[in-house]
Amino acid sequence: MCGIVGYVGKHKVKDILLDGLKELEYRGYDSAGIAVLQEDNFSLYKAVGKLDNLVQKTADFNPEGFAIGIGHTRWATHGKPTELNAHPHLGESSYVVHNGIIENYQEIKKRLQAEGVRFLSQTDTEVIVHLFEHHLKSEPTPFDAFKKTLGELDGAYAILLVTKSLPDTIFFAKNGSPMIIGLAEENEKYFASSDAPLIGHAKEVVYLGDGDYGYVSPNELKIFDYNNNSVKPTLATLPTSKLSAQKEGFRFFMEKEVYEQSAVISDTFIGRIQDDGIVFEELDPALFDGINEVKFCACGTSYHAALASSYLFERYAKIRTSVEIASELRYKEPLLLKDTLFVVISQSGETADTLETLKMAKKAGLKTLVICNVDNSSMVRLADASILTRAGIEKGVASTKAFATQMSVLWMLSLSIAEQRSTLTTEEIKAQIKALRSVPSCVQVTDELHEKIRRLSKRYLHGHGFFFIGRDVFYPLALEGALKLKEITYLHAEGYPSGEMKHGPIAMADPELFTIALMPKGLLYDKTKSNVEELSARDSTICAISPVEFDKADDFIKTHSHDHYMLEFFEMMVVLQLLAMEISVRLGNDVDMPRNLAKSVTVE
Ligand code: F6R
Repeated sequence: MCGIVGYVGKHKVKDILLDGLKELEYRGYDSAGIAVLQEDNFSLYKAVGKLDNLVQKTADFNPEGFAIGIGHTRWATHGKPTELNAHPHLGESSYVVHNGIIENYQEIKKRLQAEGVRFLSQTDTEVIVHLFEHHLKSEPTPFDAFKKTLGELDGAYAILLVTKSLPDTIFFAKNGSPMIIGLAEENEKYFASSDAPLIGHAKEVVYLGDGDYGYVSPNELKIFDYNNNSVKPTLATLPTSKLSAQKEGFRFFMEKEVYEQSAVISDTFIGRIQDDGIVFEELDPALFDGINEVKFCACGTSYHAALASSYLFERYAKIRTSVEIASELRYKEPLLLKDTLFVVISQSGETADTLETLKMAKKAGLKTLVICNVDNSSMVRLADASILTRAGIEKGVASTKAFATQMSVLWMLSLSIAEQRSTLTTEEIKAQIKALRSVPSCVQVTDELHEKIRRLSKRYLHGHGFFFIGRDVFYPLALEGALKLKEITYLHAEGYPSGEMKHGPIAMADPELFTIALMPKGLLYDKTKSNVEELSARDSTICAISPVEFDKADDFIKTHSHDHYMLEFFEMMVVLQLLAMEISVRLGNDVDMPRNLAKSVTVE
């Protein structure tokens, strides 16, 4: 996701901004830019792709002395990753950088366009600077104009704005996206989206809260809260290690990414869930014309997302759905028919096997769609259409938040097709949308839950293996729980449909076989319960995850009752991720970089 830096002071502004952006690279981006204001002159540089491209472009730009500057790494959400869409965005005499999404930008843009304002980019961000300049004409001070601008913005943001009308000042605002101010000697002020760029520069920092806004100049730091009350900055000291700063206080990237799921799912929903329906602006509705089957293809965790969503596609969109493991599809001489929409799912967009199947489908003349977390990746460039999950860069090798956002997109997509094919009524769609809106709160990790799983994990460090079992969508979730456990604990685990146990696997049941049973209240509870009882009767050690108390369980993790089984799915997903992680920690393994694994598998 996007990263922001800013600087007010007399040291090497260009180097400070570029070094800061380098520290934010881990957040993921596809273009970058800086704007520096010095003695009434703005200098602007932008480049698509890696930061090195921006470094090269600015090689001959070496401002000395006092200046103010803002910089940005952009992770495309509205509009392609081009120079025009890269930040900073220019008005007539002001620049803005922004992280987040302005939900009502189209309405503001139309209003401003009607007044003759020309927009250069396709971004939501550009409205901020034009709206500010619009208000600058009538408000008594630039700060009043900034304040009035904020009052009209809906959505999540961290904003820095600089204007020639106050050439020693940076205006800032934070609402839902991170923003930290760093203070250093000689009246220098820094801004950054996380601690890492500030380490080594700032002595003290201010962590802004949601709704905070204000301005800094060499002699001032003014912060106001969402009630427009002036607030005294609370100063904090910085962590000393950059790597730990990137982890934002979490022990591992995986832990941070599990905790981030609520926020990234909300990001993934923005603009797509509307009151009466699902909207994928990026898809041409004609994509589904003449389509009688959806074929999903993926590897690993992404394959589990595909398998889980195949239940939703048949159930809601009433469309024939098949699911393939990419490495298998490649060599099985598959029947690829033109009335099939071929959908690849990939966090990285670079997985070699999945990419090859996409090429095969294209060659066979099928329409193709990719659901991917990395814009501009090979799959996104190749497929006819793409939907980006907005998980931000995922660093932990064991995929967590990417899976969560894939499932969010796929559930939405099944409903969108159901709407087009009229296989659900308006009322049914509305009920599904209501459930979707609850996902971000369902995946929030509470201290109580995490502590419970941490304590429980000590009982699962031995034994001869784990069975993760569930029915329907909880079967692919069981597969995913088993995969998470295998990847980071190196313990043997298998995922099974719970109804399959008595067809062979139950022979393994004894006290040293651990069964992790997914027992949602809202879907086939009694059927699953019978299967778990059969295992319990054969003395398997049972860890049940359910909202319903279960007296045959040796260990019990109580989840919440929800109106929709998919909310139980998302809550149990978090439980399984934390369980794998806490067992791994107790075994002393490297949680983020497990042995033998790579984050992006670009070889066959
Ligand atoms: C598991 C994991 C892998 C990936 C698989 C596909 O935690 O991360 O199983 O899901 O290698 O990768 P993508 O989704 O990048 O195609």
